[in-house]
Amino acid sequence: MASVTILSIESSCDDTSAAVCTDGNILANIVAGQDVHTLYGGVVPELASRAHMAHIVPVVSAAMKKAGTAQRDISAVAFTQGPGLLGSLLVGASFAKSFAQALGVPIIAVHHMQAHIVAHFIDEPKPAFPFLCLTVSGGHTQIVLVRDHLDMEILGETMDDAAGEAFDKAAKMLGLPYPGGPLIDQYAREGNPHRYSFPEPSMDGYDFSFSGLKTSILYFLRDHTAKDPNFIADNLPDICASIQHRIVSILLGKLRKAAQQTGIKEIALAGGVSANSSLRSGLLAMGASEGWKVYIPAFEYCTDNAAMIAMTGYFKYLKGDFAGMDVVPMARLEMK
Ligand code: KG4
Ligand code: ZN
Repeated sequence: MASVTILSIESSCDDTSAAVCTDGNILANIVAGQDVHTLYGGVVPELASRAHMAHIVPVVSAAMKKAGTAQRDISAVAFTQGPGLLGSLLVGASFAKSFAQALGVPIIAVHHMQAHIVAHFIDEPKPAFPFLCLTVSGGHTQIVLVRDHLDMEILGETMDDAAGEAFDKAAKMLGLPYPGGPLIDQYAREGNPHRYSFPEPSMDGYDFSFSGLKTSILYFLRDHTAKDPNFIADNLPDICASIQHRIVSILLGKLRKAAQQTGIKEIALAGGVSANSSLRSGLLAMGASEGWKVYIPAFEYCTDNAAMIAMTGYFKYLKGDFAGMDVVPMARLEMK
């Protein structure tokens, strides 16, 4: 078979990314972040869409240049159909459709959460099927049973906030800038994770909930700062370590339950929160005691990136799974 080259676009949230993949090998993965949101303490959807419009052409050009790919080499254009911010998705989808139409090649619609998992097939070592993937990011928290590259079943997911959102909202209450997850991780390194105790939610099955934790942090900080206005400044490392400890214990507790009940010992981690040092060390320690093989992709493939979209696009290409030009982006999209 002639070689297959996929150009891919990811624009679901606040990063504009383009990648090139030839026969399952990633040749380029360019990501342009958006600093504009820092000012507002969170992603502002309208500003995100505008920044995607400004970034998309230079990002695609940079990816093709880095890969050494000419327009005539492209076999198909893959893009993130959803879930995500609708205005942001629209920019990527519209670009993908126009570019593909101009080149006379098909388009491939990719599910963002499926792509986070397929990111495990970019580099070695690759997990063996079936495996469980804990996907944790600013927008998602899921435990997924993965039977094949494109055959996945969600076993559990968050009923409210995502794990990254829990980190970011806790950080905001502590007066830290957005996104606060990495800062909590940083302060927690110097702190005692058992100094303060935050509640563990009682959720059935493999589902998660972080809203109760958020409320308990709010009341905890309100009560302590009422007695001592310097409470946060004087105890920041211990507070961060204790919050982080609870978020990680909620995630790993459900993951262990899912692994024990399915009997699966191939365990993968995906999403931006996989950068968290306590989650990484906790997962590796749990993996050692439970006899798991643990897979954590390179960080550039854990956060939002187009390489994972290209890889998923490649598997879909091999199956002939193309989209029609009437395909529309969806803010909410079921994983099939
Ligand atoms: O996957 P990602 O880059 O974007 C989304 O799809 O959401 O994940 C970003 C999230 C943010 O909530 C950020 O605070 C969190 O990942 N994050 C962390 C760390 N690094 C990134 N949370 C805790 N500890 C970290 N080291
Ligand atoms: Zn994501």
